[in-house]
Amino acid sequence: MKTPRRRARRGLFITLEGIEGCGKSTQTKLLGEYLRGHGYATVETREPGGTPLAEKVRAVLLDGADEPVAPETEAFLIFAARRQHVTQVIEPALTKGAIVLCDRFSDSTLAYQGYARGLGLSTLRSLNRLATHAIEPDLTLVFDVPVATGLARRRSQADLNRLDRETVQFHRKVRAGFLDLAKQHPQRMKIISAAAAQDRVARAVTQTIAPMLNRYRRRGAEDSMRSRQPSFHSLQVRHALR
Ligand SMILES: Nc1ncnc2c1ncn2[C@@H]1O[C@H](COP(=O)(O)OP(=O)(O)O)[C@@H](O)[C@H]1O
Ligand SMILES: [Mg+2]
Repeated sequence: MKTPRRRARRGLFITLEGIEGCGKSTQTKLLGEYLRGHGYATVETREPGGTPLAEKVRAVLLDGADEPVAPETEAFLIFAARRQHVTQVIEPALTKGAIVLCDRFSDSTLAYQGYARGLGLSTLRSLNRLATHAIEPDLTLVFDVPVATGLARRRSQADLNRLDRETVQFHRKVRAGFLDLAKQHPQRMKIISAAAAQDRVARAVTQTIAPMLNRYRRRGAEDSMRSRQPSFHSLQVRHALR
């Protein structure tokens, strides 16, 4: 008998992770365009955020106001936003069979609030299971650049947020955290060197996702044969809050 969770996972869940300025938002957009161009129903979203309520939490989190923010406060706000996002956007899209591209997800919480802020990883993982309904990405792309490169890219943009202004040491811990997580989950997490030009990074992304995309396409074809319905891949869906 199928579990409810398996039924909810007809789609494909891809997360894009890495330090500030590594190119996550750029590559989310490029990958979304690529997938839609190939006829895949694709939902682009981001964390913290992705729903009106969660976007308000994002604004609170990234606000540069002077009040110090305790690491636990930061974590609880992120989990609250994630819970909302998973229920409202990610689960429904996966149930419909879409490809969900999420700019940051659970690994960011482990890298930032765990490795960099020092909260316990096992506590964060427990709270995360509650926040995600135990949904895990099928694939996580970790865009890796030296901290100096990432920060230089971000600092050339106008809208610096509270996290961009953290110390170089902090961002080094975040980067090391992502690399350590990738070592722990080599099947799910793929490191993509992101120091090259955008189009070269985008090519590395499409090469990396190709095997999973082939499996997803085959699964879609089998589903539509069984149900004699048009494949959900022929749908065109765009959801983006940016
Ligand atoms: N491969 C790249 N080479 C040079 N600049 C890049 C590259 N990818 C993104 N950028 C630029 O760097 C800045 C940060 O990129 P962005 O995608 O917003 O990073 P992130 O979402 O990871 O913080 C943007 O101005 C973007 O245009
Ligand atoms: Mg971004």
